[in-house]
Amino acid sequence: MAPTLTLNDSLEIPAIGLGLYKVAPQVTREAVMSAVGLGYRLLDGAAFYANERELGEAIRAVGGELGVPRSDLVVASKFWGDPVQSYDQALADFEASERALGIGRLDLYYIHWPRPSRGAFVEVWRALIRLREEGRVRSIAVSNFNEAELSRLREETGVTPSINQVESHPWLPQLALRDFHARHGIVTQAWSPLGRGRLLSDPVLGEVALKHRTTTAQVVLRWHVQVGGAAIPKSTQPDRQRANLSLDGFALDGEDMARIARLENGVHTGTDPKDRA
Ligand code: A2P
Repeated sequence: MAPTLTLNDSLEIPAIGLGLYKVAPQVTREAVMSAVGLGYRLLDGAAFYANERELGEAIRAVGGELGVPRSDLVVASKFWGDPVQSYDQALADFEASERALGIGRLDLYYIHWPRPSRGAFVEVWRALIRLREEGRVRSIAVSNFNEAELSRLREETGVTPSINQVESHPWLPQLALRDFHARHGIVTQAWSPLGRGRLLSDPVLGEVALKHRTTTAQVVLRWHVQVGGAAIPKSTQPDRQRANLSLDGFALDGEDMARIARLENGVHTGTDPKDRA
């Protein structure tokens, strides 16, 4: 089982969760039920993923069919902010996600993208602070923020996000950002932790997997855990979901970590926040 991380507001989250981006609505219920049955307790959703209704149905079903209560799950949603990013829009979109999910209080709510050219992410953050103060969400977080944007939130509102969810994997380890997060009590949570599957054909990662008689995906996810971060691998396939959560059978040693550190090439497999200003 993956370790847990304690956020700066004391919410505990599993280091490994199920990513729901690009999970089609018609397979969402099955994918979520399989994942929860295998032990996943963090479900990373978002309004943009267009599967929140089905995610909510699955969460209600696991209570009855698998006996996993809602309170054992950490369920996330995110404010998309397109076409309008504003305080009122954030409150309205939060309510729309609440309705679509139909599972009561949300655990995590993120600003999906800072969109700095709009100049509104601080007021959106104030809306999220209000939602947390009103007890409608347990923890508030951001995604795709850089150091300067995180600093503005902290300096202008006094509230530091619990998590910054960014693309990260051995090709894009985000060392400077991870260090900033560590200094400010922010958990680094990696989206596309397998580089959308592209890292699975990296020959060095393949050699490390062979050495430990495991799979390349497990080596990459074990790296995420060993650097102290969280990750949300996406898979709709139960055998892969199981593998992605089974990271206890081996540990990467210093030599492995050094080899993996040399793989950094700065490649983004998804949108670089610089291209989404
Ligand atoms: P699938 O959903 O068909 O299993 P990321 O989380 O980095 O975005 O990567 C997701 C991609 O990697 C998806 O295409 C997913 O496909 C694939 N994937 C996830 N886990 C594994 C695994 N353990 N082995 C091989 N491919 C995987």
